[in-house]
Amino acid sequence: MQTMRLILLGPPGAGKGTLAKPLIEKYHIPQISTGDILRQAVKNGTELGKSAKTYMDRGDLVPDDVIIGIVKERIKAADCQPGYIFDGFPRTLPQAEALDRVLKELGTPLTAVINMEVPEDVVVTRLSGRRTCRNCGALFHIAFNPPAQEGVCNACGGELYQRDDDNETTIRQRLGVYRQQTFPLIEYYAKQGVIKTIDGAADAKEVAAAALRAVV
Ligand code: AP5
Ligand code: MG
Ligand code: ZN
Repeated sequence: MQTMRLILLGPPGAGKGTLAKPLIEKYHIPQISTGDILRQAVKNGTELGKSAKTYMDRGDLVPDDVIIGIVKERIKAADCQPGYIFDGFPRTLPQAEALDRVLKELGTPLTAVINMEVPEDVVVTRLSGRRTCRNCGALFHIAFNPPAQEGVCNACGGELYQRDDDNETTIRQRLGVYRQQTFPLIEYYAKQGVIKTIDGAADAKEVAAAALRAVV
């Protein structure tokens, strides 16, 4: 099968984590979510977790050098050789430039950058109602994708929780950070001719179908 190196680009709550799932199933490649890696480090109480938590709770970005270091190591792992799906990385120009340098060194160019367009009022509603499984990470929404039993994960029976950064103040800060630091990446990747823009405001099945059409 063709190698697939994908970036899911979009504001907080665009549905990057949700879209990663059908892509993993289709292409059998891992999802690299820097947000998930950082939340795992916070949970484990590691040095990385302790320093990252302050930034994450404020809705600010963790410093570029920390993130770049994590990603560089991760993509060299055996399971990433058939490709991977970046979710939430890169999100600054220095991160995108560092990634380009590494990919060039490895001789492994990007397949596509899927730009998920979603209006701000929609992402605020999505983030405010999101519930995440503490055990397996499955994503739910109290209105758009409710679990069969309130507070319980359909997939594994784990406890559903609300992320610390899904409160209104932090959501607003995350959106501002997206506009200032991540939005310029659309232009950056458009210049490279790899950007594929899809309507991320459609329902989850349609979003997945549009993404699959975009990368063939
Ligand atoms: P991260 O974890 O990456 O969060 P984010 O970018 O804010 O994105 P989210 O995970 O909130 O949203 P999503 O797009 O995955 O949406 P989801 O699928 O869950 O980053 C968190 C923090 O970590 C950052 O603020 C920063 O501090 C740090 N960090 C991470 N990466 C970094 C980096 N590279 N550099 C520096 N710092 C970094 O969907 C949201 C909700 O909507 C769910 O409830 C879902 O069920 C629902 N939903 C999804 N799709 C649909 C749909 N089509 N229709 C209806 N509902 C939908
Ligand atoms: Mg996510
Ligand atoms: Zn679960």
